[in-house]
Formats: sequence, structure tokens, C-alpha cells
Amino acid sequence: MKLLCVVGARPNFMKAASIVDAVERRRATNAIEIRLVHTGQHYDERMSRAFFDDLELPKPDVDLGVGSGSHAEQTGEIMKRFEPVLQQERPDVVLVVGDVNSTAACALVTAKASYAGGTGGGRPLLAHVEAGLRSFDRAMPEEINRVVTDALSDLLFVTEERARANLLREGIREDSICLVGNTMVDTLLRHLEQARGSSILRTLGLDGWGGDGAGPAPARELHSRSAGRAGYAVVTLHRPSNVDDRDTFRRVLDALRVVARDLPVVFPMHPRTMARVRAFGFENDFWRPQDTAQARAGRVMAVDPLGYLEFLCLLSHARLVLTDSGGIQEETTVLGVPCVTIRENTERPVTITEGTNLLVGTRTESIVAGALRQLREPPTGRIPTRWDGKAGERIVDLLTERVGRRG
Ligand code: UD1
Repeated sequence: MKLLCVVGARPNFMKAASIVDAVERRRATNAIEIRLVHTGQHYDERMSRAFFDDLELPKPDVDLGVGSGSHAEQTGEIMKRFEPVLQQERPDVVLVVGDVNSTAACALVTAKASYAGGTGGGRPLLAHVEAGLRSFDRAMPEEINRVVTDALSDLLFVTEERARANLLREGIREDSICLVGNTMVDTLLRHLEQARGSSILRTLGLDGWGGDGAGPAPARELHSRSAGRAGYAVVTLHRPSNVDDRDTFRRVLDALRVVARDLPVVFPMHPRTMARVRAFGFENDFWRPQDTAQARAGRVMAVDPLGYLEFLCLLSHARLVLTDSGGIQEETTVLGVPCVTIRENTERPVTITEGTNLLVGTRTESIVAGALRQLREPPTGRIPTRWDGKAGERIVDLLTERVGRRG
């Protein structure tokens, strides 16, 4: 079996790493060839290369180098550059992961491909990892990518039961859907111990904040009010709906500043968000390591995007996480860390019904109320079905079987 795995943006890398690992582990018994194609949607050292290093991913076999652009420019450019690669590589399977523009673009090309003079159906099988998730919000670019990719895929690997129900409702054949678990969780479990050895807490000056509530005075107050340890809060925000709209971004920052009165708030910042902070003149909401203690009070600590291991370390020791990311809702559920999701909806409902996630919207008061609730009564979630570190292996086994049947 020849497998071509597509990655493009930061959240894709952890998912692909699980598949690459599983192929490695099956290599002794199965003849599987894997080719990694990077579209170049994310290209900054900190958004891409750092993840390949941390995850020990092999260098991509092909780099399409598309870079940034409008949705149409980026999607179109990926399609144009991916088509000849597909014709040259002629894989049995194209595997796309997640819901970014690279996912939908390569799915479209694969579904319409036709191998000149080919046998066995004339085109590769298209498999989608993390299929069926729906926010039911078509204003989200990712929702469009999810719907398009799922409609075209031959094999749909889902992370939760609700995703299967969504796909069946959309008319997808039941025998093409499989609940395999979560590849992002595979990678988290594999790297957690190593990540905990990271020196990032010390580097950021947060190491005095964990465990015993012995941090500076405001954190001690919070500690006495809450059941758990003092610690710090981690924030990530990058959704266009939150950071591209000045009023929404302002309301969210107001809430973060309230939380920051009680607890150090650290914000590893996506390049998109960093650009908006500058454009909107919000720099004053953040402090930098060189600032005095007085200047820091009630402000947020902005840092550059972190590598995978550093971020996982930060997340795993956090008292609270506030985010608009999809993957982080899942990672906090597995880590048992309280999460506040700053969005009106989530495509990952199992993180609420079984995990540690709370959906609070984007109003200042509801974010603050949600944060306090999560701090005072930390949720005791459980790990969703099959989030056990074996999703990648299940996927590779199912693909091998399906390709074998195709002949
Ligand atoms: C993309 C995904 C989103 C995912 C996120 C993770 C889509 C539609 N969105 O959003 O689902 O959650 O990645 O990070 O695919 N930029 C850089 N350096 C980079 C990459 C981007 O500076 O390496 C800046 C550029 O100004 C670019 C902007 O960030 O225009 C947005 O990048 P883009 O890839 O369009 O979307 P993301 O917001 O990263």
C-alpha cells in the first residue's frame, strides 16, 4: 500500500505524526510506503519546522510552499500544485486530516483525480481523519472545509459518536464510517512524559506558581477560594470571529484582564492574533518579561508561539485554559485540565458531555463567570471512548484491509 499523507497547518502535524508512527510499527508485517506532502499553508519556523522537530516527523517528501493568501488564493494554489504530485506519486490512498484549507483543497483534487491508464478504480481512495465534526456554523471556514471533505471521502474516521450521527444524517454510507479514536490524543499520550521535562515553566517564570498555592498574594487568595492548586492560566485565541473583529476581541481581552488579577495568564500568540493586537492598538493589555511587577498586574503575558513539547508542558500544569482552538478542547479533556471555550459553539461536543470543557460565548461577563466556575468547581471529566493512544494503528489497519480488498 502506498499512502500519501497531507499536512498543511499546525494542528495537522500532531495528527499525521500518529499515522507515521503507526506505519513504522506495522512495517515489519506490512509493506506500507508513506509519502508526506506539506502544502506550506503554515511556514513560520515556530508554526511548522519546530513541530516536525518535536514530533520527530520525517522531512516532507514534497513541499508545495503555498504560503498565505485569501481563502480562494490559498485553496486554489494548493489544488494547482497538488494535482501533478498526485499524478506522479500515484498512491493507493490519500489521507487528509482535520479541517484546514489544505485538507479541503487536497480532498477536492483527489476526488476528481483519474490515473491515466490506471487500474483498480483509476484514482486513490480518499480517507479523512477527524471526519463528521460539525459546529453547524457555516460562517466558520473550517465548517465549510469539513462538509466538503466529508462529502468527498471514501473512508471517514471519526473521533466521537456524535460525528458518526452527523455523517449518517448527511447521507454518508454507514460502512464507510469508523470510530477509531483520536490521533491528536495518540500523539499527546506518546509525548506527555517527555513534555513534562521541558524547562518552559522556568523560562516563563511560572514554576513558582504550581502545586502549593505559594505564589504571590492574589494567587494565594484564589487558591483559598478554589479546591485545587494555584497555578496559572493559559490562553490561545486565533479564530477570525474572535480576533478579526475589534469589538469581540476587546470584550475577550477585558475578560482575560479580570482573570489576570487573580492568576498569571500566559498567552502564546498566533501570528494572525499578533497582527491584530498591533492593528487594533491593544499592546497595552499585555506585559513583557522586562516589565515591573506593578506594570504586570491585571495584564496578560504574551509570548511567541511555543513548540509542541513546550506547549504540552504548559497545558498539562495549567490551572485553567481559555481557548477558541478545536484541538485544545480535546487535549484539556485528556489531561483533566479545566477548559473555557470562548466560542458560541463547538464541533467537539464530547469534550463538554464527557470532558472538562465549558462553552461560554464571547461576552466579557460570561467568560469571567465561566472561568470562576471552572476554578471553583474543577470538572471531573472522563476520557471519551477509544481516546486510548491507538487511533493511528486502527486507521492503518483499516486502510490496509480496504486497499487489500480493492486489489
Ligand atoms: C489555520 C486554519 C485553522 C487552524 C489554524 C491553526 C484554515 C481556514 N484555518 O488558521 O483552522 O485552527 O490554522 O493555527 O485553514 N501566518 C504567519 N505564519 C504562518 C502562518 C500564518 O504569519 O506560518 C499568518 C499570515 O498572516 C496569515 C495568517 O496568519 O495570513 C492566517 O494564516 P492561515 O493559514 O490563513 O489561517 P490560520 O489563522 O493560521
